[in-house]
Amino acid sequence: MLLKNRIALVTGAGSGLGRAIAIAYAQEGATVILLGRRQEALEESYDLIADQGGSATIVPLDLEKELPRVSELAATIAQRFGLLDILVNNAAQLGALTPMTGYEPAMWESILRVNLTAPFFLTRELMPLLKRSNNASVINLSSGVALHGRAYWGAYAASKAALMNLTETWAQEMTNNIVRLNSVNPGGTATDMRATAFPGEDPATLPSPEQVVPIFLYLASHHAKEIQGRHLDAREWMHWTPPKEKPSIQ
Ligand SMILES: NC(=O)c1ccc[n+]([C@@H]2O[C@H](COP(=O)([O-])OP(=O)(O)OC[C@H]3O[C@@H](n4cnc5c(N)ncnc54)[C@H](OP(=O)(O)O)[C@@H]3O)[C@@H](O)[C@H]2O)c1
Repeated sequence: MLLKNRIALVTGAGSGLGRAIAIAYAQEGATVILLGRRQEALEESYDLIADQGGSATIVPLDLEKELPRVSELAATIAQRFGLLDILVNNAAQLGALTPMTGYEPAMWESILRVNLTAPFFLTRELMPLLKRSNNASVINLSSGVALHGRAYWGAYAASKAALMNLTETWAQEMTNNIVRLNSVNPGGTATDMRATAFPGEDPATLPSPEQVVPIFLYLASHHAKEIQGRHLDAREWMHWTPPKEKPSIQ
């Protein structure tokens, strides 16, 4: 198992990519802390993991309204697990696709708080626990619209561009790669968020969340020990499988 006995925290684990990443991590032996806003959605993810014999725990927490509670969460993780190996900053809000001239300041604030401030704060508060791991990995979810602004994508695009930049800053401050921080652009994936952004699109033409998961397994694993401060595209890693370990001669 690729992530045996690892402790992973995935935000937005009640749906879409977050759920698929959490399930894949649990299948590989990690204990997964499922963080999200809606308790019922998290419970569904929990059941899917438990039904397969995996290990998980749920943390209902609104990253917009209850962000300071992340400090309590860090204390609870410290008490229960002693460390954290993997943090996936996946939760995000799209907001309404709107011209900048009519962009609501409240929506701007809310999107930046969930998509940018929350990953900063989670990473900062959990850093002492990540530093206790012998292979700590932080994965931030970016987007194609992070690289170039796009009409009507306002705060979402700006937040993802800033998150990529922040990933590099964190990574450069890590001496000896003690914690690795990288970003992943999943590319168009069949989730609720994608359907909201592109209502006319047939989701059957897109990869499923499960299909884009391999990059998240790779980055969380010891195979990515040298990967620091990089921006990776999930589409290029859809067929990655862990290389076979050479059997040791007794
Ligand atoms: N799907 C794509 O095509 C695509 C492309 C590029 C990038 N991405 C990125 O991939 C990531 C996952 O997106 P997705 O497509 O899987 O979307 P999704 O299904 O809408 O999932 C977003 C998740 O974020 C959580 N979330 C939103 N606001 C929150 C808050 N205030 N507090 C806690 N959790 C909150 C949601 O939880 P609740 O449901 O409980 O509110 C939900 O589980 C995002 O970072 C997104 O920007 C997706």
